Amino acid sequence: MTSSLSVIILAAGKGTRMQSAKPKVLQTLAGKSLLGHVLDTCHQLTVDETIVVHGFGGEQVQTAITDQYAHLSITWVAQTEQLGTGHAVKVALAQLPKDGQSLILYGDVPLVSSCTLTKLQTANNEGVSMLTLTVDNPFGLGRIKRDRVGNIEAIVEQKDASSDEQKIQEINSGIYCVDNALLHKYLPKLSNDNAQQEYYLTDIVKMAVADGINIAAIEPEHTFEIEGVNNRQQLASLERSWQGKLVQDLQVAGVQFADPTRVDIRGTLTAGQDVFVDVGVVFEGDCTLGDNVYIEAGCIIKNAQIGNACHLKPYCVVDQAHIGAGVDIGPFAHLRPGTVLADSSRVGNFVEIKKSTIGHGSKVNHLSYIGDATIGTNVNVGAGVITCNYDGVNKSQTVINDNAFVGSNVSLVAPVTIGSTATVAAGSVITDDVDADALALGRARQVQKTNFQRPTKTSK
Ligand code: UD1
Ligand code: CA
Repeated sequence: MTSSLSVIILAAGKGTRMQSAKPKVLQTLAGKSLLGHVLDTCHQLTVDETIVVHGFGGEQVQTAITDQYAHLSITWVAQTEQLGTGHAVKVALAQLPKDGQSLILYGDVPLVSSCTLTKLQTANNEGVSMLTLTVDNPFGLGRIKRDRVGNIEAIVEQKDASSDEQKIQEINSGIYCVDNALLHKYLPKLSNDNAQQEYYLTDIVKMAVADGINIAAIEPEHTFEIEGVNNRQQLASLERSWQGKLVQDLQVAGVQFADPTRVDIRGTLTAGQDVFVDVGVVFEGDCTLGDNVYIEAGCIIKNAQIGNACHLKPYCVVDQAHIGAGVDIGPFAHLRPGTVLADSSRVGNFVEIKKSTIGHGSKVNHLSYIGDATIGTNVNVGAGVITCNYDGVNKSQTVINDNAFVGSNVSLVAPVTIGSTATVAAGSVITDDVDADALALGRARQVQKTNFQRPTKTSK
């Protein structure tokens, strides 16, 4: 039997302690909003409906998330007054099917894994399952009360707990899987007769127990999965936990990090074997590295595919580039979107490349700008060569065919084509196409004045 799965994400809290103009769930961890993490995780499961309960900065949240997550159809529900977690779920009831089950998640608990959520869903046999954890310092959190044989009886909040109850170390993560029928039955009955005068979602546990329901509980694999973000220290510490986890997974897959604490992965990184990553390297978006890739200090690599045995020297910026095998890059190279470097090509220091293809074995070694260009195989582009691709209005193409040699400090005024095995003399400004096998010179002829006298200073 399959039953529908809804997800209710509570995200109405203001996040006062962040001291930010930005709603808390839009703060970023590993380059992605907190709410974005939760949404991405949910959508690794088969979810029929996603409800986000928003409050403070709701419109800002909705705009930012709708733009980025257009592929998910999210139902937005406003909770104008934050009267408690129970109230937050209650305002979502009108959007919730009568049957099926719901995962209840928090927009500020970003790292719960899809694997844990699947286990939680599987554990929900009788109507309610929840994620709990035994911790050293339970202060501030809801405590799990169990009877003598270990069955869950209730959740008691810190502020309502007796001194005995405060000693309980098993805490409520706040993440549950509950049958929708029970949510429809219990939520209208919640009262706010407690220390905080809030409508506690946790009270549904008591109600279910009174109905003879056995509450299932599971623990997450990692503690960070249930950790929330309330201030910037917690955000930074959760970021470190997450980076630690990503790095560990890559180490298991055969990647060597010079220092596992000095690398950041803001997205997904897939790497082959015997990859080396030095300190201060940042990966963003979706990056793929082949086997034996060697990345030196300070490189920033974003949405790039890098083939086997490439070597990135220090401080390269690589953005939306596709790099073949055995390519040497840098130091200080800037590869911008649309760069394609074929196998065994070479891009040296202070070279910027944009929307261009560099063919097999070709070299652009020093101080060049190559934009909107197609460069064939075994081409040598000399030091300081510039493609003049922009006339202030239009961008134009430069084509350099196989085996051409472009001397140092040449300006290639696009649109222009250099024929195969052609030679362009150093210092030329090339405005016309050059034929295959030809030599092109486009510079003033040198003149010489013999016995030239330099001016001399007259002493006052
Ligand atoms: C809640 C649980 C507590 C648990 C803890 C885990 C209740 C009564 N208590 O504590 O047992 O240990 O989470 O972190 O549920 N929110 C709304 N609207 C509201 C109130 C909260 O959307 O009216 C959202 C917040 O934005 C946040 C989440 O719900 O994402 C949890 O709220 P928070 O105040 O942090 O949790 P507590 O109620 O203190
Ligand atoms: Ca609270």
